[in-house]
Amino acid sequence: MEKLVGNKVNTAVFISGRGSNLKYLINYSNSKKSLIKIKLIISNNNNALGLKYAKKNQIKYFVIDYKNVYLAETKILNILSKLNIKLICLAGFMKIISKNFIKKFNNPILNIHPSLLPKYKGLNTHQRVLKNKEIFSGSTVHLVTPKLDSGKIILQKKVRISKSDDINKLEKKILNAEHKLYSKAIIKFLSSL
Ligand code: GRF
Repeated sequence: MEKLVGNKVNTAVFISGRGSNLKYLINYSNSKKSLIKIKLIISNNNNALGLKYAKKNQIKYFVIDYKNVYLAETKILNILSKLNIKLICLAGFMKIISKNFIKKFNNPILNIHPSLLPKYKGLNTHQRVLKNKEIFSGSTVHLVTPKLDSGKIILQKKVRISKSDDINKLEKKILNAEHKLYSKAIIKFLSSL
């Protein structure tokens, strides 16, 4: 992995929907002390609400048709290379990043996952956590590797589950924690290089 510290790291954020994590990442990117500069937003979904943050902040964005994954990823890799992107942050991106993509990009890819990994990989985490009557859940920022939700953990935030929590309440609690966690994890990760 190349050494990334020095100037602000050109960063792309990949989203599929609401984009609340994107919103907070943009806030961080716009702050004076930020270690990253968000130059690009990629979405596989034309209706992703989060695209409004790209428009509002005049950040370049592309909606990529994922019918053919290979073609989609080739297109994205081209854009990343043109914009000299050195870091990708996945934030609610609902497509799997292929081994080929990870290899070709050859720079770090981070993801935020709404559970205390290695527990509860994959989808519907809150539902499963509540069903198992866990006392804690939370969120994890980790490096993306070809194995789903299994790369090196950068930072986690624990959240206590109360008896009255349903899926919606727990999701809100964890989302709130995520909004602070992602930029903290980026700082920790980039400072460690
Ligand atoms: C977050 O909970 C994140 O952990 C998961 O997808 C959700 C995205 O939310 N990967 P948002 O689109 O950032 O609001």
